[in-house]
Amino acid sequence: MGKGSGYAKVILFGEHFVVYGLPAIGVALAKKTDVEVSKSQHMRVESSHADASLLNGLEAIKNAMGIKDSFVVKIKSEIPLGSGLGSSAAVSVAYVRALADEYGLQLTGEQISAYAYEAEKVYHGTPSGIDNTLASSGGAIFYQNTDGKSAVKPLNVGKPLNIVIGNTGKKQGSTAEIIAAVRGRREKNPGIYEDLFNAERKVIDGAVKAIEHGDPAALGELMNINHGLLSAMGVSTKENGDIIYAARVFGAYGAKITGAGMGGSCVILAKNEKNAEDIANEIRKMGYLAITSVVQ
Ligand code: MEV
Repeated sequence: MGKGSGYAKVILFGEHFVVYGLPAIGVALAKKTDVEVSKSQHMRVESSHADASLLNGLEAIKNAMGIKDSFVVKIKSEIPLGSGLGSSAAVSVAYVRALADEYGLQLTGEQISAYAYEAEKVYHGTPSGIDNTLASSGGAIFYQNTDGKSAVKPLNVGKPLNIVIGNTGKKQGSTAEIIAAVRGRREKNPGIYEDLFNAERKVIDGAVKAIEHGDPAALGELMNINHGLLSAMGVSTKENGDIIYAARVFGAYGAKITGAGMGGSCVILAKNEKNAEDIANEIRKMGYLAITSVVQ
């Protein structure tokens, strides 16, 4: 039997833009997925949230690793599906680690992430690779993928970040569909999108400094600007907006969608732990899910 885990991630800056080669900033959260593999006659998944495409993704990973055996794959996850927290990437990374454990393979973080990416392509079409990178690396990272080559730089977090994740539970469409819709809108207005991209580059420059210098107020303001740009790209819904505005009214430094959007999760930077709990409770009162986490 082999065992492995993968982390949940939250993108603080740059989702969608990262698909076009712009940088993004993400952090891993203290929530994980555990996978156990035991050899078997046929591939079988035991999980509360498995679907047919999951098996295709697991097959893609096995093929890339050159493994011919079949397994019973047991998945236990603390990460809600379709939550914008990279649940699929966490499963893929955990599965690669479990296979490596089963066969006694010593893989680097980069290799684990690259194998996991094979499944991400099956699920999401043209993913940037940030989800599998964060699911395998942990910590806070600056991430960029240009022409299929990814550059990853760990970031120092100057001051702990009190994060709230709000989830509407009403994501409209798959990540692949949402990425395709953005691509279509960009093709209609390439000049305007170029301006949005340039604004995002400045947002990311500022965000790296704000994270490393420990300036959460500046960081929150940049999150608000990033949300405005994502809204302009058409990936925010009324429910996302409700969570984001409630968080801002409750004193958050900043709030935005995180991940693909369209009703998926929002990330909120709270002033402190108490403020994070108050915001999370307010989101729950609105009938949505909320979790709090500290990034340090
Ligand atoms: C999904 O978590 C983030 C997106 O930018 C897609 C990707 O990076 O592959 C929307």
